[in-house]
Amino acid sequence: MTSHTGRPDTDARPWLDASLPVEQRVDHLMAAMTLAEKVAQTHQVANIHPDDDAEQIRAGRISSSLYASGATAGNERDEGVLVGNIDAAQRHAVEGSRLGIPILFGRDVIHGHRTVFPIPLGLAASFDPELLEEAAAIAAREAAVDGVAWTFTPMVDISEEPRWGRVAESLGETPVLSGRLAAALVRGFQGPDPSDRDRLASCAKHFVGYGLAAGGRDYDTVSVGENTLRNLHLRPFKDAVDAGVTTVMASFNDVDGTPMHAHERLIREVLKDEWGFDGVVVADWNGIGQIVFQGVAADRREAAKLAIHAGVDLDMVSASYLDHLEELVESGEVDVALVDDAVRRVLRLKFRLGLFEHPYATREGASNAPTPQTRSVARRAAHASHVLVKNDGVLPLGEDAGRVLLSGPFVDDGDALLGTWVLDGRGEEVATPGDALRERLGHRVTVADGRFPDVTLMQARAADTSVLLLGEHRSRSGEAQSVVDIGLPPGQLELVRAVAAYGKPLVAVVYTGRPLDLSEVLDLADAVVVVWHPGIEAGPALADVLLGDVEPYGRLPMTFPLSTGHIPTSTHQRPTGRLIRADVDRKEGRYIDALTYPRLPFGRGLSYTTVEYGEPKLSDATLVGDDSVALSVTVTNTGDRPCREVVQLYFRDPVAQVTRPLVELSDWAVVELEPGAARDVLFDVRAEQFAYYGRDLAARVDDGAIELLTGPDAASLQSVTLTIQTA
Ligand code: NOJ
Repeated sequence: MTSHTGRPDTDARPWLDASLPVEQRVDHLMAAMTLAEKVAQTHQVANIHPDDDAEQIRAGRISSSLYASGATAGNERDEGVLVGNIDAAQRHAVEGSRLGIPILFGRDVIHGHRTVFPIPLGLAASFDPELLEEAAAIAAREAAVDGVAWTFTPMVDISEEPRWGRVAESLGETPVLSGRLAAALVRGFQGPDPSDRDRLASCAKHFVGYGLAAGGRDYDTVSVGENTLRNLHLRPFKDAVDAGVTTVMASFNDVDGTPMHAHERLIREVLKDEWGFDGVVVADWNGIGQIVFQGVAADRREAAKLAIHAGVDLDMVSASYLDHLEELVESGEVDVALVDDAVRRVLRLKFRLGLFEHPYATREGASNAPTPQTRSVARRAAHASHVLVKNDGVLPLGEDAGRVLLSGPFVDDGDALLGTWVLDGRGEEVATPGDALRERLGHRVTVADGRFPDVTLMQARAADTSVLLLGEHRSRSGEAQSVVDIGLPPGQLELVRAVAAYGKPLVAVVYTGRPLDLSEVLDLADAVVVVWHPGIEAGPALADVLLGDVEPYGRLPMTFPLSTGHIPTSTHQRPTGRLIRADVDRKEGRYIDALTYPRLPFGRGLSYTTVEYGEPKLSDATLVGDDSVALSVTVTNTGDRPCREVVQLYFRDPVAQVTRPLVELSDWAVVELEPGAARDVLFDVRAEQFAYYGRDLAARVDDGAIELLTGPDAASLQSVTLTIQTA
């Protein structure tokens, strides 16, 4: 409603007065709303259509719409979002409904929109928060041009289970890396002010424990205590909240018998009350309705009652709130204050996003097609995600590599290189490895898709060096893509064995959304590079790394186990009562038929040079109160190529109130070293880094020894002992 001056009629609709503080605007609007209108603000639909849904929108019955291809959206394609449709639907809401409350449009913009970056697990391998922030800002702008105002990322589920396909969307297994990178993504998507039209609201998900799904089966039950949640799984969520994330998504799993969508203790008491999160808790897809399938509510009415008590504010697609909340309030089963709290949060978000000021998204002439600039960030991100895990000197490929065979299903399949969440990415825009290496090596390279393994063998025999592109298709990772065997897909290992038998240099490039069992590949190939699913610049990035124009510098954000049977393996395994020493536990282990050390430890990643680490040294052996001590470690490039080294700091708390991880990542520093150069890398160490939750679930720091460990990965560490004196 506008007055005759063309300005918003702030007398009739005081909430439209943009000069008022957000909370006051929310108060004004809430005062004008009926209970039915309030309930409607807790209702999110999928794929709203301006014609089909016009009546519902004008009746003020829809708060938000996500655009998704289905319940497991990541692995299915849709037609894309049309800003024209979004604006047409918005017009019904803003100009056609009684209160004119704009609709909030969301979409899973996970690792890029049109410019597709590496999958999140690949981005995590960069250990580079600034890079992730830059990528997120590009994705936000591109998605905003299509009318998207809200993305459901970052996923910060601690991920230590490679059978679980969803690890592809995670930031790895450690709370410190996940938390810092999640905060960077939140900053990148939301910017300093989420009302900026080039930014989106972001969403930390899935709250909480989703990564612990039994057996790695997506959505499965979770048995975990609050102490482990606090010491591990809740931490990256807290980092995202501290970074200002505006929304959090509840997870599909239960925690110790209570479905997360009904978990009052964790959502209302911990996230909202204890942490002071004042944003929106959104359900996952039909998550409220699924409480019925979980056998904890008889019907959607009861599920709605549980979820609103738990603190879920916005119902994604189940319509349980829309259908039942009003009546639940009228019958006295739900206090209206609970509904008010949910609605207040949704409206607060809409005001914060500036939706009342600029509800329409169409911008004349705006394009979101990938540009040379956005592609160059994607290329850098792909470089940073490539992890060299073995090199017997065959890489980088020089003149002496002779005639090169580049073979495998990924050579020219743009779509397969994009990764799991690519609703708006276009396979035909991907620069493929085949094109990149043809361009760079000319007649020296034979490019083949390897459809006929017998032909591949003949080609490998004729070549001097074979580069095999192995691994899993993007659709084998992501949501609902759990596997019982983390080996390579059928047939690939046989090919590796046969090609290796020629005894000529063999390079394996591994495309994957999860840690795979690479044991035999590592034994047989002369060099192995894990490249995840790298996105739109897959080809040039690979060529740069293989040919040595760029030094490989990614580091593994998850442990690669020796075999499927060794799962779970992660850095934060805790000591047992029998084998309590990290070295014994990890090398000899607890199986009688195998050793148990990780095949590739967390943090592993080689360079084309060699790097030596000195012993860690402390500026002071005792850390008192709030002071800090400096830990220094000398890192020397002992080879003949430059490198970018990720110097890692871990710790172990040998005596605590509860069992603590054998080693836990605490910090890292990135240094660039020219050949022969040495640097003293400094870490500022403070007692709060060793805080943990004790048996009473309160945060604490203990007096006594802390072992600090430095090195290039979680399995190659040297230690020094620090004494903590809290007062
Ligand atoms: C289900 C997924 O678990 C969640 O991560 C995603 O954001 C929603 N679907 C919406 O597509």
